[in-house]
Amino acid sequence: MTALSVNLNKIALLRNSREGNYPNVVEHAQLCIDQGADGITVHPRPDQRHIRPSDVRQLAALVSPIPDVEFNIEGNPFAPAMADYPGFVELVEETQPDQCTLVPDGDDQLTSDHGFYLTSSAEQLAPVIQRLQKQGMRVSLFMDPDLEQIKLASQIGADRIELYTGPYAAAWGTDQLQAIFEQHLAAAELATELGMGVNAGHDLNLDNLTKFASIPDLLEVSIGHAFTVDSLAMGMANAVQAYRELLA
Ligand code: PXP
Repeated sequence: MTALSVNLNKIALLRNSREGNYPNVVEHAQLCIDQGADGITVHPRPDQRHIRPSDVRQLAALVSPIPDVEFNIEGNPFAPAMADYPGFVELVEETQPDQCTLVPDGDDQLTSDHGFYLTSSAEQLAPVIQRLQKQGMRVSLFMDPDLEQIKLASQIGADRIELYTGPYAAAWGTDQLQAIFEQHLAAAELATELGMGVNAGHDLNLDNLTKFASIPDLLEVSIGHAFTVDSLAMGMANAVQAYRELLA
């Protein structure tokens, strides 16, 4: 079964719209875990627009001791320290997640919208991957379904890739869908053949997930935005159940 990692960024975004700690991100993580979520994902950014360093520390304390529940931190490894944000790699090293997903995002992006172009960034990225792996973390790279780039991900030692599924989701209901799905399928097959695990994420939802999860050996999906919207309508416990049922 493909693992479900619930991304809690949007709970933090709601919390940040007021003073105080409501909704409480850690309590929502606990609720998801109680309902059978396989992991918790957060994406801290230097501008702290949603997840703050304090959330990452508290979630690490909650999730890390629980066997078989994965803590995944995603973000730009080159994001520098800013005010009380210690820098991405520094925060990851302090909190030691099970998996670190490296993403080439910038503060000017509303959300992650492309994978790594390793032709130009492999040299800079390789030492970061090794540094985190030496500390026992699994390192995944956020990638477009581009076969040449996926070969480079393997060459610089990535344990996994996370396929960026935004274009797949955007093609839902159009005649482009099958071609885009097949690109992702080919990318996943190549990654598996090269010995990397395959994760996926972005804009996955209860409509488009089943088809994507038919990709053999898809190890994990991380889902936040649609999951949060579904939680408003059906309650978060039911939303975890609904996503898990589709992945089963
Ligand atoms: N993967 C990455 C790298 C992301 O940045 C995000 C959004 O934070 C997701 C997955 C989850 O995307 P969504 O919130 O659309 O489910």
